[in-house]
Amino acid sequence: MAKFLISGVVGGIGNALFKRLIEAGHEIYAIGHDGEGMQKLQDQYSNFKHYVVCDYTNPQDIEKSCQDIWQYGPFDGFCYCSGQTQVQSVRKMKYEENLKLFNINFFAFLEVLRLFVIHKPKNYVSRVVVLSSISSILTTNYTAMYGASKAAIDAFLKNASIELINFKISINSLQPGYVDTKMGRILEVLGDFEDRIAKSQPMGIISTEDVAIELEYMLTKMPLTVTGSCRLLSGGCH
Ligand SMILES: NC(=O)c1ccc[n+]([C@@H]2O[C@H](COP(=O)([O-])OP(=O)(O)OC[C@H]3O[C@@H](n4cnc5c(N)ncnc54)[C@H](OP(=O)(O)O)[C@@H]3O)[C@@H](O)[C@H]2O)c1
Repeated sequence: MAKFLISGVVGGIGNALFKRLIEAGHEIYAIGHDGEGMQKLQDQYSNFKHYVVCDYTNPQDIEKSCQDIWQYGPFDGFCYCSGQTQVQSVRKMKYEENLKLFNINFFAFLEVLRLFVIHKPKNYVSRVVVLSSISSILTTNYTAMYGASKAAIDAFLKNASIELINFKISINSLQPGYVDTKMGRILEVLGDFEDRIAKSQPMGIISTEDVAIELEYMLTKMPLTVTGSCRLLSGGCH
C-alpha cells in the first residue's frame, strides 16, 4: 500500500485515477477546488484520508491553503489532474483570462510541486505525474492559449527533471488527446463535434478509464529512470 497525493479528484480524469488507486488499496490525499465533492468521496471511501480546499486562480495563496496536507506525507506519488481549458480566437483574447488559465494549468502546478519537494525527505523516492495534453505538440483550432499552457508544463518538467534527480523524484507528463469528460467535450460549442473527433482522432474519444490506467502505471510501476518525458496517449490523433 502506498500514499498518493492527487490534485483534482472530483474532475473526470482525476476521479477515474482516484477510483483505480483506491480499489488497489492505496491511501489517497487530495487538493481540490470542490470541497463538497471531495467530502462526498471521503464519506464513501475510507482510504480517502484527507483533503484540503484550494483555488488555483491565485497561486500565491496555495501555500497557506495547503499547509495542512504535508503532515500526512511523505507521499509515494503526486498527480496533478487539475486544469481548465479555453476556446477563444486570438482576436478576442483577454490578458486577464489568459493569466487565469496559466495560473491554474501552469503556475499552480509549479507552486504545489515546490511545496511537495520542500516537504519531502530528500531521500524518499517519489513519482510526479502531471496532465499535459496533445495540444502541447499538435494543433487544435481556437485552443492556442490552452496548448501554450500545456507546452509550458512539458518544457518546465524536462528541465526541472535534472535538478529533481537529486531529490529522488521522477517527473513526467501525460499528453492525452480528447478524453470523454466535460472538458474534452468543450469543443462541442463549435458544432460538428463527432465529425471533428472522427477526423482528428480515428480511435474515437478516449475513456477516462484508459487515461487512469496509464496514470496508475506512471505513478506506481514505471521505472524511476524514466524522467523528464512526455508520454502521448493519442487515440490515433494526428
Ligand atoms: N478532457 C480532455 O480531453 C483532456 C485532454 C488532455 C488533457 N486534459 C487535461 O487533464 C486534466 C483533467 O481534465 P478533465 O478532463 O478531467 O477535466 P475536468 O473534469 O473539468 O476536471 C478539471 C479539474 O481541474 C480542477 N480545477 C479547475 N479549476 C480549478 C481552480 N480554479 N482551482 C483548483 N482546481 C481547479 C477541478 O477541480 P474541482 O473538481 O475540485 O472543481 C477538476 O478537478 C486537465 O489538466 C486537462 O487539461 C484533458
